Amino acid sequence: MNFETPIDELSLAQATDELAQLALTMAEADLAYHQKDAPSINDAAYDSLKKRNLAIEKRFPDLKRADSPSGKIGAPVASGFSKIRHKVAMLSLGNAFDDEDVAEFDTRIRKFLSLSDDFDLTYTAEPKIDGLSLSLRYEHGQLVSAATRGDGEVGEDVTQNARNVRDIPQKINGAPDVLEVRGEVYMSHADFEALNVQQLAQGAKPFANPRNAAAGSLRQLDSAITKARPLHFFAYAWGDISEPLAKTQKLAIDRLAGFGFSTNPLTGICATPAELIAHYQSIERQRSTLGYDIDGVVYKVNDLALQARLGFRSTTPRWAIAHKFAAETATTTVESIEIQVGRTGALSPVANLKPVTVGGVVVSRATLHNEDYIKGIDSKGAAIRKGGDIRVGDLVEIYRAGDVIPKIREVLEHADNCARFVFPNICPVCGSDAIREEGEAVARCSGGFSCAAQGVEKLKHFVSRAAFDVDGLGAKQVETFVADDWIAEPADIFLLEERFGSGVKQLKNREGWGDKSASKLFDAIRDRRQIPLNRLIFALGIRHVGDSSAMTLARFYASWQAFEGAMQAAQLHEGDAWELLNSIDGVGTVMAAAAVDFFHEPRARDMVDRLVSYLDIQDIAAPQNDGSPVAGKTVVFTGTLEKVSRAEAKATAESLGAKVSGSVSAKTDILVAGPKAGSKLTKAQALGITIVSEQEWLDLIRQSGDS
Ligand code: IVH
Repeated sequence: MNFETPIDELSLAQATDELAQLALTMAEADLAYHQKDAPSINDAAYDSLKKRNLAIEKRFPDLKRADSPSGKIGAPVASGFSKIRHKVAMLSLGNAFDDEDVAEFDTRIRKFLSLSDDFDLTYTAEPKIDGLSLSLRYEHGQLVSAATRGDGEVGEDVTQNARNVRDIPQKINGAPDVLEVRGEVYMSHADFEALNVQQLAQGAKPFANPRNAAAGSLRQLDSAITKARPLHFFAYAWGDISEPLAKTQKLAIDRLAGFGFSTNPLTGICATPAELIAHYQSIERQRSTLGYDIDGVVYKVNDLALQARLGFRSTTPRWAIAHKFAAETATTTVESIEIQVGRTGALSPVANLKPVTVGGVVVSRATLHNEDYIKGIDSKGAAIRKGGDIRVGDLVEIYRAGDVIPKIREVLEHADNCARFVFPNICPVCGSDAIREEGEAVARCSGGFSCAAQGVEKLKHFVSRAAFDVDGLGAKQVETFVADDWIAEPADIFLLEERFGSGVKQLKNREGWGDKSASKLFDAIRDRRQIPLNRLIFALGIRHVGDSSAMTLARFYASWQAFEGAMQAAQLHEGDAWELLNSIDGVGTVMAAAAVDFFHEPRARDMVDRLVSYLDIQDIAAPQNDGSPVAGKTVVFTGTLEKVSRAEAKATAESLGAKVSGSVSAKTDILVAGPKAGSKLTKAQALGITIVSEQEWLDLIRQSGDS
């Protein structure tokens, strides 16, 4: 169909026909677009189809179809997959890089659990598969859903695709009524090579490595494509579960194997750090013959009751760690040194390198941290790289550990006649003085809000993944929007659509934007007006407040009103609000001061007020505290605890919804006092605060476990 007959000349039959064709063509285009790899028509062509569809519908309103594309503007097909909220968060793992880290892992666990050195503590040790994690939910033995990890809280619904992975059973026998099996989807080396040969033959882009190939294959909107790709799955953990699988990690994994899952044959049991390291070395020796990528060895406490006591930090379990293999290295030359200005004004030098492949990824930049690092001095003044400085033209050895930006390990050779690098004393972007405070490693641009670079970086941070994470608004778009004076601060993002009357019209005329992508962006921005408190706190870009600290603050204050009120009240760095802020576990004076001062910097304050007026900020609920007798209570531990370690007591209290504080104030509800309690006890007595012994405390919280 050519879609060219002038609309007012269309007959009823022609119009009916055309609307049907348009619905079909646009549905196909939608599908292709969302697969990202293969848009079937460009934005302009899409827009003109949509316009024609609308015009025909306008002339023949009765012919409008139930599946009319005009009704679908901005439909929430944003990423193509619907979302699944994980019942139990999918966390990541802490890392160990050397033998010392492994020994510390064991010591930390013994200390947390108050175990003696001769207590028999065993661990499992198994390969860390380099793929993508997947959570499979079985109800009454039937696979009902499959979700990718996503941000750990919400993943993508890839159920249809998971049904096409051979290693994933559709049905299992003898399992608990509810069982979420977690593991890694990966592609073997042989299948990866074969797939790339096929990709090239079809004129498609080859995948960079097996992990990307596995991810690209699982995240296909067309599950027939997934079916044709040879994916595998190793089960190594579980999420939501209606009854325990076993008493130990090893037996639980054996049960998963019994249900028909592939589990890794190299899983061993080790009793000491030395045995863990020996098993690690044995796996490392086999690495090149396994036929699939692994990037380390994961150690887990074997006893599941101990795992439960150890619990989790904000994003990682205390009972497991990933011992990574040594980073891969490569040799290349430094072509230039560039200074970037970060959102806090920090001047960060970056080396532009002659592109080189390290561990399957092409690398063309390496971070140089700061002035001293370039000179060959570490933060304590000691020599690094044997004191060798880095110059433009140097031949260097670079390394990559995990997904982090590569670093320079060693300068192999200075080029002839090259001079030492001179670190600038002015901001390369705004020309303000760059100031390096006494005792600081970093030089900062003193331009503050008037420095364009800082403004852009603040906005990039604002839309980043752990912050507002607006679909379709990434670093690149922020840069162009700022360059065009469309946005200068976070609040402007929420004004974009309104400010232009029809923002769609403005945006779609820009290169790279069509009617559809523009309205999708505005939908995504509108969606983000509802924002969880922790994301907002992180997005503000307060120095020293990273995403996990933002979560700590959000959990403690629960609402924006309470948080903001407390920052106001603590202005003078003294008084109850200040004390309370400093007493939060995980908040030190430096972070506390940065947060309070941020709210008293007039420009930052105005920026926040303008932003908040567009938002609906969601409170953060205290964790699972149904029926907990200590939910919402502020608890202080003092003196010697004899039954559990201080760290475990704190973690348990927090998991029951209590706030643990380090100092006694009028806000304290309960003081748990062991032997040798001192001034805190006296103060609590004076304030008439409830004082209990360790045993009384344990009895009190046990009630919640029983109910
Ligand atoms: S256990 C609570 N075991 O590594 C965390 N993870 O860096 C449970 N991974 O997100 C994870 N192999 O995707 C575990 N044998 C293994 C693993 C493994 C690979 C991945 C997993 C996780 C990531 C953390």
